[in-house]
Amino acid sequence: MKKLCALVLAGIMLIALAAGCSGGDGGVKTYKVGVSIYKYDDNFMTLYRQEIESYFKTLETDTVKYNVTMMDGKGDMVEQTNQVENFIAQKVDVMIINLVQSSSAATITDKAKAANIPVVYINREPSADDMNGWDKISYVGADAKQSGTYQGEIIRDLADNGDINGDGVVSYVMLVGDPENTDAQYRTEYSIKALTDAGIAVEKLFEQRGDWDTAKGQELAANALAQFGGQIDVIFANNDGMAMGAIQAIKTAGRTVGQDIYLVGVDAIPEAVDAIAAGDMTGTVLNDHIGQSHTAVDAAVRYMSSESVDKYLWVNYQKVQ
Ligand code: GAL
Repeated sequence: MKKLCALVLAGIMLIALAAGCSGGDGGVKTYKVGVSIYKYDDNFMTLYRQEIESYFKTLETDTVKYNVTMMDGKGDMVEQTNQVENFIAQKVDVMIINLVQSSSAATITDKAKAANIPVVYINREPSADDMNGWDKISYVGADAKQSGTYQGEIIRDLADNGDINGDGVVSYVMLVGDPENTDAQYRTEYSIKALTDAGIAVEKLFEQRGDWDTAKGQELAANALAQFGGQIDVIFANNDGMAMGAIQAIKTAGRTVGQDIYLVGVDAIPEAVDAIAAGDMTGTVLNDHIGQSHTAVDAAVRYMSSESVDKYLWVNYQKVQ
């Protein structure tokens, strides 16, 4: 009799365990989320992805759990497409995708649609056409035009309107992120537009891509400084990562921010905020990774609860000086 009781008990325990694991029963529901980040080795997206993970944790309750699988796209679209296929094979409930190439959105959407798995795209905006590809895809981002405009306004509003060498024209260097990306395109265009709209004369001395990267930013800024020296009034960096590199190049060239050159970035990563406080940088624009990651996770949760989600969810930038 004792033996029988033990067996029955063991049986009950096994069933309870199995129910718990399946995630659908036993009172606990576990949702599966697949996240792919275009590249882990990116200052801003590192802050962003860490916040996605910690914010999901804060939303967990005794009865709702999130099983988040996060992958490094390694800057390789083929690799990222494989990751998406794996997420689909694992039957995730939703995907959050920071595309390696925004132009590949349609390929990813088609795969997700065939499996009926909603997608929240983040940070790299797909084209308007691609965003119309399915009603269960959304984009969470910030308006890149606004960040460019704010960069330009930070320079425009200086006492000398950015013309630090006083020759009547703001001669500038532009460190471009990744030209395929609307963030890079609009920051490049709108930072200068804020100056020309104010009637300030500008001259472009140098414009090259640095892929958002500190080492590349340093190399490009060093080249520009060697080529154009005292002609340069302002270095515009499409992001703080490259601006951090530019700070080193400026110091090596014996120049001083605020005295004979200006430097402005975007993101407000902690290193840039420190650099502004130390006088090594003129200003930056806060790219709100907290607001964006929370908005993206909230959208993913809404999709998983079959609630309606807006196609576009925008988060504002803020000037930091
Ligand atoms: C931008 C950000 C850059 C870089 C890029 C990646 O919004 O300012 O630092 O992270 O996204 O797509």
